[in-house]
Amino acid sequence: MAKRVLMCPPTFFDVREVKNPYMRQAIDPVLAQHQWENLKHTLEDSGVAVETIAPIKDLEDMVFAANQMFVGYSDRIGKFIVPSEMRYLIRQREVPFYVDWFRNHGYSIVALDLKGECLEGHGDLIWHPDRSRIWAGYGFRSTLGGVTKFSAAMKELGFPVTPLHLVDDHCYHLDTCFSPLSNDAVLIYAGAFAPEALEAIRAGWKRVHEITRDEAVGFMGNGIVANGRYITPRSTPNLERILGQEGLSPIKVDTSEFEKSGGSAFCMKSFIE
Ligand code: ARG
Repeated sequence: MAKRVLMCPPTFFDVREVKNPYMRQAIDPVLAQHQWENLKHTLEDSGVAVETIAPIKDLEDMVFAANQMFVGYSDRIGKFIVPSEMRYLIRQREVPFYVDWFRNHGYSIVALDLKGECLEGHGDLIWHPDRSRIWAGYGFRSTLGGVTKFSAAMKELGFPVTPLHLVDDHCYHLDTCFSPLSNDAVLIYAGAFAPEALEAIRAGWKRVHEITRDEAVGFMGNGIVANGRYITPRSTPNLERILGQEGLSPIKVDTSEFEKSGGSAFCMKSFIE
């Protein structure tokens, strides 16, 4: 699925303001740099090209390159982004740097009037692998109002958006509990979703594979699918069984320092192709 991603080096990465339940311990910056480079090399070894954006001092979460925008392609307007409206002020400051990067790389900017609402990019907005539709989490970071405004804009481009109400604060972003494995199969932690969200997921995928809450909190639902591999911070017999059924093999990358900020592999990149 992934051919090209955008990442941001963790030069200024830190845990300061507590934005989610994982953020309690200090990070080791040297280890974080090492782990980030290892993830980058693992992606490259899996045939994924990695582009980078320059990190900015004091923007301690800028390394989580999945959140500042939604990246899309439409026959009508070509490649585009929808800039995020981040819930936390410090993270709101990351957005213009990402917008500049995409503008300089030929993307058009679909700006929504999101005042008073939040929309956190690919933390909560995930393409169906065939890019026919978009799955949209809300409840902790993105708001229903933000997702509703996003849906209206995407409808004009021909992309249906399915809102999914998130109910477990350890799964505060959709990408912590929902991982498409192929056009037909998705990996989820079911306890993270309200009943109507689960129904929508079951109606939209041929195979819905479930991981446990412990697996989700261990970021095993935050993996990256790349050329037959599933890049994950750890694995269990259950995860390996699921991946085996879908013809994927697990590749482990240690992301301990980023997990102390509430993120792992999927959060640390945006798919740009
Ligand atoms: N500390 C960051 C935050 O709370 C982590 C973001 C993780 N990103 C993600 N896509 N889940 O905003």
